[in-house]
Amino acid sequence: VNAKVLVLNGPNLNMLGSREPDIYGRTTLADIKRAVTARAAKLKLKATFKQSNVEGEIVTAIQSARKKADGLIINAAAYTHTSVAILDALLACGIPIVEVHLSNIYRREEFRHHSYVSRAATGVICGFGAHGYELALEAMARLLSDKK
Ligand code: DQA
Repeated sequence: VNAKVLVLNGPNLNMLGSREPDIYGRTTLADIKRAVTARAAKLKLKATFKQSNVEGEIVTAIQSARKKADGLIINAAAYTHTSVAILDALLACGIPIVEVHLSNIYRREEFRHHSYVSRAATGVICGFGAHGYELALEAMARLLSDKK
Protein backbone atom coordinates (compact mmCIF):
# COMPACT_ATOMS: atom_id res chain seq x y z
CA VAL A 1 0.00 0.00 0.00
CA ASN A 2 1.47 3.31 -1.10
CA ALA A 3 -0.98 5.85 0.30
CA LYS A 4 -3.90 6.26 2.66
CA VAL A 5 -7.16 7.95 1.77
CA LEU A 6 -9.83 8.97 4.27
CA VAL A 7 -13.41 8.87 2.97
CA LEU A 8 -15.42 11.21 5.18
CA ASN A 9 -19.21 11.38 5.08
CA GLY A 10 -21.42 13.93 6.76
CA PRO A 11 -24.95 14.05 8.16
CA ASN A 12 -27.71 11.66 7.09
CA LEU A 13 -25.40 9.64 4.87
CA ASN A 14 -25.65 6.80 7.41
CA MET A 15 -29.26 6.58 6.13
CA LEU A 16 -28.27 5.84 2.53
CA GLY A 17 -30.31 3.05 1.00
CA SER A 18 -33.53 4.09 2.67
CA ARG A 19 -33.19 7.88 2.61
CA GLU A 20 -35.02 9.50 -0.36
CA PRO A 21 -34.03 6.62 -2.68
CA ASP A 22 -35.33 8.48 -5.75
CA ILE A 23 -32.57 11.02 -5.19
CA TYR A 24 -29.83 9.05 -3.46
CA GLY A 25 -30.42 5.48 -4.71
CA ARG A 26 -30.73 2.18 -2.86
CA THR A 27 -27.03 1.66 -2.24
CA THR A 28 -26.09 1.76 1.44
CA LEU A 29 -22.98 3.33 2.95
CA ALA A 30 -21.78 -0.21 3.74
CA ASP A 31 -22.13 -1.09 0.03
CA ILE A 32 -20.12 2.01 -0.88
CA LYS A 33 -17.46 1.06 1.64
CA ARG A 34 -17.16 -2.42 0.10
CA ALA A 35 -16.89 -1.09 -3.46
CA VAL A 36 -14.38 1.63 -2.52
CA THR A 37 -12.25 -0.81 -0.48
CA ALA A 38 -12.06 -3.19 -3.45
CA ARG A 39 -11.20 -0.39 -5.86
CA ALA A 40 -8.59 0.95 -3.42
CA ALA A 41 -6.81 -2.40 -3.32
CA LYS A 42 -6.51 -2.34 -7.13
CA LEU A 43 -5.11 1.19 -7.00
CA LYS A 44 -2.64 0.24 -4.23
CA LEU A 45 -4.36 2.59 -1.80
CA LYS A 46 -5.77 2.00 1.65
CA ALA A 47 -9.16 3.61 2.24
CA THR A 48 -10.54 4.32 5.70
CA PHE A 49 -14.05 5.53 6.37
CA LYS A 50 -15.75 7.83 8.80
CA GLN A 51 -19.31 9.13 8.97
CA SER A 52 -20.66 11.67 11.42
CA ASN A 53 -23.86 13.64 11.84
CA VAL A 54 -22.02 16.16 14.01
CA GLU A 55 -20.30 19.19 12.47
CA GLY A 56 -17.58 19.42 15.13
CA GLU A 57 -16.72 15.74 14.77
CA ILE A 58 -16.22 16.29 11.05
CA VAL A 59 -13.91 19.24 11.80
CA THR A 60 -11.90 17.04 14.19
CA ALA A 61 -11.72 14.20 11.65
CA ILE A 62 -10.36 16.64 9.03
CA GLN A 63 -7.78 17.91 11.53
CA SER A 64 -6.54 14.39 12.20
CA ALA A 65 -6.55 13.48 8.49
CA ARG A 66 -3.67 15.91 8.17
CA LYS A 67 -1.47 13.46 10.07
CA LYS A 68 -3.12 10.14 9.27
CA ALA A 69 -3.95 10.31 5.56
CA ASP A 70 -2.41 11.32 2.23
CA GLY A 71 -5.70 12.33 0.65
CA LEU A 72 -9.27 13.16 1.67
CA ILE A 73 -12.51 12.33 -0.12
CA ILE A 74 -15.40 14.21 1.45
CA ASN A 75 -19.15 14.30 1.09
CA ALA A 76 -20.03 16.92 3.70
CA ALA A 77 -23.75 16.47 2.83
CA ALA A 78 -25.85 19.41 4.06
CA TYR A 79 -22.82 21.01 5.75
CA THR A 80 -21.41 21.51 2.25
CA HIS A 81 -23.78 24.43 1.89
CA THR A 82 -23.47 25.91 5.38
CA SER A 83 -20.21 25.20 7.15
CA VAL A 84 -17.39 27.74 7.24
CA ALA A 85 -15.90 25.64 10.09
CA ILE A 86 -15.54 22.64 7.77
CA LEU A 87 -14.11 24.86 5.01
CA ASP A 88 -11.52 26.29 7.40
CA ALA A 89 -10.51 22.80 8.55
CA LEU A 90 -10.17 21.73 4.91
CA LEU A 91 -8.08 24.79 4.03
CA ALA A 92 -5.72 23.96 6.91
CA CYS A 93 -5.39 20.27 6.21
CA GLY A 94 -2.78 20.45 3.46
CA ILE A 95 -3.60 17.17 1.65
CA PRO A 96 -5.45 16.81 -1.68
CA ILE A 97 -9.24 16.93 -1.36
CA VAL A 98 -11.89 15.52 -3.71
CA GLU A 99 -15.48 16.58 -3.05
CA VAL A 100 -18.26 14.08 -3.77
CA HIS A 101 -22.04 14.30 -3.95
CA LEU A 102 -24.32 11.46 -4.96
CA SER A 103 -26.88 13.79 -6.49
CA ASN A 104 -26.23 16.50 -9.06
CA ILE A 105 -26.52 19.43 -6.66
CA TYR A 106 -26.82 21.87 -9.59
CA ARG A 107 -30.06 20.26 -10.77
CA ARG A 108 -31.61 20.68 -7.34
CA GLU A 109 -32.75 23.53 -5.11
CA GLU A 110 -30.90 26.82 -5.34
CA PHE A 111 -29.55 26.50 -1.78
CA ARG A 112 -27.59 23.41 -2.85
CA HIS A 113 -25.80 25.23 -5.67
CA HIS A 114 -23.21 26.81 -3.42
CA SER A 115 -20.50 24.68 -1.82
CA TYR A 116 -18.07 25.93 0.79
CA VAL A 117 -16.16 22.65 0.41
CA SER A 118 -15.40 23.44 -3.25
CA ARG A 119 -13.15 26.33 -2.26
CA ALA A 120 -10.76 23.79 -0.72
CA ALA A 121 -11.22 20.86 -3.12
CA THR A 122 -9.08 20.07 -6.15
CA GLY A 123 -12.22 18.87 -7.91
CA VAL A 124 -15.83 17.82 -7.50
CA ILE A 125 -17.67 14.69 -8.58
CA CYS A 126 -21.43 14.94 -8.36
CA GLY A 127 -24.47 13.36 -9.95
CA PHE A 128 -23.16 9.83 -10.46
CA GLY A 129 -24.71 8.32 -7.35
CA ALA A 130 -22.70 5.83 -5.31
CA HIS A 131 -20.33 5.27 -8.23
CA GLY A 132 -19.05 8.80 -7.60
CA TYR A 133 -17.02 7.54 -4.65
CA GLU A 134 -15.12 5.14 -6.90
CA LEU A 135 -14.60 7.93 -9.45
CA ALA A 136 -13.29 10.14 -6.65
CA LEU A 137 -10.87 7.42 -5.59
CA GLU A 138 -9.59 7.11 -9.17
CA ALA A 139 -9.06 10.88 -9.25
CA MET A 140 -7.31 10.77 -5.89
CA ALA A 141 -4.98 7.96 -7.03
CA ARG A 142 -3.91 10.14 -9.95
CA LEU A 143 -3.45 13.22 -7.75
CA LEU A 144 -1.29 11.28 -5.31
CA SER A 145 0.85 9.69 -8.03
CA ASP A 146 1.38 13.11 -9.70
CA LYS A 147 2.55 14.47 -6.35
CA LYS A 148 5.37 11.93 -6.07
C1 DQA B 1 -25.50 15.45 -0.88
C2 DQA B 1 -26.21 16.70 -1.40
C3 DQA B 1 -26.55 17.65 -0.27
O1 DQA B 1 -27.20 18.80 -0.79
C4 DQA B 1 -27.46 16.98 0.73
O2 DQA B 1 -27.69 17.84 1.82
C5 DQA B 1 -26.96 15.67 1.18
C6 DQA B 1 -26.30 14.78 0.22
C7 DQA B 1 -25.28 14.39 -1.98
O3 DQA B 1 -24.46 13.51 -1.77
O4 DQA B 1 -25.94 14.43 -3.02
O5 DQA B 1 -27.17 15.27 2.33
O6 DQA B 1 -24.22 15.82 -0.38
